[in-house]
Amino acid sequence: MAFDIQKIRADFPILSRKVNGYPLVYLDNAATSQKPQAVIDSIVYYYSNYNANIHRGVHSLSQEATDAYEMARKTIQEHFGIKNAHETIFTSGTTHGINIVASGFTNLLKKGDEIIVSAMEHHSNIVPWQMLCERSGTILKVIPMNENGTLQFSAYEKLLSEKTKLVFVNHVSNALGTINPIEEIIAKAHEKGAAVLIDGAQACSHLKPDLQKLDADFYVTSAHKMYGPTGIGLLFMKEKWGNILPPYQGGGEMIKEVTFEKTTYACLPHKFEAGTPNIAGGIAFGAAIDYLNTINFNEIETYETELLAYATQSLLEIDGLKIYGTGPSKTSVISFNLEGIHPYDIGTIVDKLGIAVRTGHHCAQPIMEYYKIPGTVRASFSFYNTKEEVDLLVKAVKKAQLMLG
Ligand code: ALA
Repeated sequence: MAFDIQKIRADFPILSRKVNGYPLVYLDNAATSQKPQAVIDSIVYYYSNYNANIHRGVHSLSQEATDAYEMARKTIQEHFGIKNAHETIFTSGTTHGINIVASGFTNLLKKGDEIIVSAMEHHSNIVPWQMLCERSGTILKVIPMNENGTLQFSAYEKLLSEKTKLVFVNHVSNALGTINPIEEIIAKAHEKGAAVLIDGAQACSHLKPDLQKLDADFYVTSAHKMYGPTGIGLLFMKEKWGNILPPYQGGGEMIKEVTFEKTTYACLPHKFEAGTPNIAGGIAFGAAIDYLNTINFNEIETYETELLAYATQSLLEIDGLKIYGTGPSKTSVISFNLEGIHPYDIGTIVDKLGIAVRTGHHCAQPIMEYYKIPGTVRASFSFYNTKEEVDLLVKAVKKAQLMLG
């Protein structure tokens, strides 16, 4: 399909609604993306036609649901270039995936071991590791960042040592849009024998990582940022780690055999998929990927890069506007503030004009602490946004400045 913006917009029913009497301008895609009709249809079709529990019944509906769920796993596996379907684990989202890994390392680490995080993580890629440190006596080290919102790579190299057991960094910063040099980060960690987890929550709607090539030990992401539903995500785990890490939750589906004397666990991926999963969500995650691949990621990247450049230039024409995150490699996210005005006030006024942006610390308080600000206004763009919408944002921000300044 050629990149036809009007045709693409027509695939997303919500984009034709009004908010506060104005056409919706949805610029909060980093929080969650809107859903194309194909994804909505797959959920409705599942519940209307073959809702059943999976991996359990011999009856036809159960078989159909199991086939569709496993087909979605295959679609996700192929999309991310994962070697084996069983390394493709369904989770409820990125946070769940990180917690599975952090919890699993509890007994693999000892007092004095070190783990490394970056200064620009979402809280979900900080807190589970701090909890791990409390349990295991491990030491948490932080890769510092530069004023332009990039990581200090040489400082990272200095932090690495034989004591380093794990490194966890986001692929793309949710608050700044910075694309981190994860290939180099992974390679350096592996030289020291450390495992690496990449938080891909903010990356996979913009780029298509090839996980075999990337060679991360773990890669996590959420479907809802990639035009799929909430409550479902991917944890890629190298087979080796799947055999080493203990299960996160006990329950049905994750066992081989249960007796009161001893229970043995199922193989990957079921070992980490206790309980009835989000079946409709898994199937719709597959539908979202199928939809994205009809557009083509190269076209998405080209279009969004153009939109980012246009929006950056247009916003910078506003007096007193400062952008946070000005590194050379970014996704289409712009975090900004207006001198002397609280971000929350700007967000409230632009909402009155139908424009959705996120304001606040974006669950990344250490970044706000670094810049000594309470938060930012964040406009995050998708391939369904347009230059006309950027113009409306700029006009609305100017209006807010006039009213509040
Ligand atoms: N992590 C999401 C965001 O950045 C919710 O908005």
